[in-house]
Amino acid sequence: MSIAEKNKVKFETKTEYYEVKVHPQTNRLYHISLSKEAVKNFLEAVHKAGTSVEHLEYTPYARLLMASYLLDQLGEEFGELIRGIVHDRDSGGFTLGLEGVSQDTDDYVILSTAISYLLGAPNQDAMSGKYYARFSVKDTDGSDSYLRQAYRLFTLHTDGTFVDEPTDWLIMMKMVEENARGGESRLLHLDDWSELDKYASHPLANHKFTYKAPKSKNVDQEIERVTFFNYNNKPGICYIDQFAYPETIEKAKYLHDLSNSMENDEHVIELELPVGDLVVVNNIFWLHGRAAFEKDPNLNRELLRQRGHFN
Ligand SMILES: [Fe+2]
Repeated sequence: MSIAEKNKVKFETKTEYYEVKVHPQTNRLYHISLSKEAVKNFLEAVHKAGTSVEHLEYTPYARLLMASYLLDQLGEEFGELIRGIVHDRDSGGFTLGLEGVSQDTDDYVILSTAISYLLGAPNQDAMSGKYYARFSVKDTDGSDSYLRQAYRLFTLHTDGTFVDEPTDWLIMMKMVEENARGGESRLLHLDDWSELDKYASHPLANHKFTYKAPKSKNVDQEIERVTFFNYNNKPGICYIDQFAYPETIEKAKYLHDLSNSMENDEHVIELELPVGDLVVVNNIFWLHGRAAFEKDPNLNRELLRQRGHFN
């Protein structure tokens, strides 16, 4: 059976409150449409309880209540459904959004928090000092990594390379988008990468590379990471070009060739993500990056991210 056929039978479903379908852009992901009514009722319950984003930032238990309000609207099995998708090797990801019910970015934070706590729990984001981070890409930038540099390709990588806690999954949500052409999220499922075997069975696949974060990440730590490891009897990957410190020319070439091979793979997906939608991917067998934007002095795009672990 093809991946498309397999994924169709695995998680496609329809209830009164939501519908899960294989994503129109790629067979590897699902798209979950929530009913407008369910989103409206969810946000009403949150607002009625007087929950603000600030309260969520200061009070971890309040974030779990967001998950509970969402289950109240969608049904208890919704949590198992999305965890099932993110664990599933044939997929490992989905998109979902507010269906245009609200344009308030605080509501975006709230929905992403509910999803995050249904998946597990988010890690503290050292860059923002919160459980989530919002970051803008604009025409000019003076930062020390490619995260906010609009006109460069941000190469495929996994998150959490330079921290010593597990980073099992990643949420990216589109908060704002103005005058943006290009800049799509680039995604690659590890099993779609044509040269996976070549690099995963290479003698350097299990070499412990040193990773160090630049200053803006607020992580003052060095960590050693192997690039490929066993994950439920399939390869998992931990890789980012910018923060690895290879000791030899040979090792540098391995990292460079691996990165080039992924970037040029025909299976890289350039995902269209509308404002108010989020994408969740398993961070062990999905790589993500960003296409370059076209030059525009008024470019303004903001994303929210949460990285976390399963419970
Ligand atoms: Fe990333």
